[in-house]
Amino acid sequence: MRVLLVGSGGREHALAVTLGRSPMLDALFIAPGNPGTAALGTNVAIAVDDVPALVEFALRERIGLVVPGPEAPLVAGLADACAVAGIACAGPTAQAARLEGSKSFTKTICDAAGIPTARWERFEDADEAHAFVRRRGAPIVIKADGLAAGKGVVVAQTLAEAEAAIDMMMRDGGLGVAGASVVIEECLDGDEVSLFAFCDGETALLIGAAQDHKRIGEGDTGPNTGGMGAVSPPAYFDRATQETALDLLVRPMLREMVRLGTPFRGVIFAGLMLTVHGPELIEYNVRFGDPEAQALLPRLRTDLLPVLVALCDGRLAEADLRFADEASVAVVLAGRGYPGRPATGGAIAGIERAERLPGVQVFQAATRRGPAGALYGDGGRVLTVVATAPDLAAARDAAYAGVAAIDWPDGIWRRDIGLRALARADAAQAGD
Ligand code: AMP
Ligand code: GLY
Repeated sequence: MRVLLVGSGGREHALAVTLGRSPMLDALFIAPGNPGTAALGTNVAIAVDDVPALVEFALRERIGLVVPGPEAPLVAGLADACAVAGIACAGPTAQAARLEGSKSFTKTICDAAGIPTARWERFEDADEAHAFVRRRGAPIVIKADGLAAGKGVVVAQTLAEAEAAIDMMMRDGGLGVAGASVVIEECLDGDEVSLFAFCDGETALLIGAAQDHKRIGEGDTGPNTGGMGAVSPPAYFDRATQETALDLLVRPMLREMVRLGTPFRGVIFAGLMLTVHGPELIEYNVRFGDPEAQALLPRLRTDLLPVLVALCDGRLAEADLRFADEASVAVVLAGRGYPGRPATGGAIAGIERAERLPGVQVFQAATRRGPAGALYGDGGRVLTVVATAPDLAAARDAAYAGVAAIDWPDGIWRRDIGLRALARADAAQAGD
């Protein structure tokens, strides 16, 4: 089978490695890819949201399956255009991708399907939003209704913060059209985890769970990022609990989407809070997480490609998907200055040295090759060092040994990835 993978991050490098192991794979193209994916297939210079160019390429190259990485091509209608062209695409239509693109759409689905989530209200008028938060008090969460590149959510600890967020979004146009309307919701308390499943419209097949580390600073401080590291599985969220969470938060959504005539096919990513009342949905994304995918995919023991084909054919109930019963830890290295303007230009060495360590893999994101073949950092998140091992503590040690083997003076990373999960596991063992 000839496959076109869309994206250029660490998530796509991990997908390329995973697909590359499939005996069913005849050729792999990556649009636009990165220097890491170039070693696994052919990089093609097409932007992820240039849907006409992606489909034209897929037709010309007789692609049998399109695998979208990020949400942008899906929101732009890649799956719809593939359907018209008769090409299988392992992602949702633009209508179904509204689960990620519109907060209020998701909330409406949750209400209709009885999915536990924070109580919410939507506002188009700033005065009404102000009156609402004054009535409710803090902590409270203010969300731009549209896609705002991860900057659209303010978890306000005080009323003043909540009111400033409303003004920034609704009065000062700080997020453009995405902030013209806002969703205001109750603040959930607990541990936040990411749950993943393949969906073929009717069936949800559990992939697994991971815990992201979103803040730039150690101890979960400082501004939000795309994600600075992940552990899988989260120590206190075993597969039985993950299945329960799918029953509560994902399967009712699939039924509701079928009822609306817009069945969901693709990877569902449920961001959820493990509260004292059980799991509650924070949000859906319609794709793999980054860096969660880099932590999950190295544990996969079965062939990914037939599962993606089954997803497109509506045959997921027959698919075979198994993961090693081990832990993985992914540590992201970013350019100094990230999530602001990152340093670029410094050369990276030592990836091979890191990958000689047992269980260690390095995935590339914003890297570029210089004319002499050297590798350079070229953006925010640059590398992910992932290690798998029988338990979390060993995986963490191996991941940080991998980081130490890399020589990149411009790189920054968190030293506490997995520490919280480890403390939880220790507490659980002590009978806490
Ligand atoms: P979202 O873009 O909806 O994922 O929100 C970004 C982050 O804000 C989430 O990953 C959570 O950490 C936090 N968040 C969102 N909604 C809530 C909520 N209702 N209660 C507590 N934290 C939230
Ligand atoms: N790591 C969170 C995301 O991919 O959105």
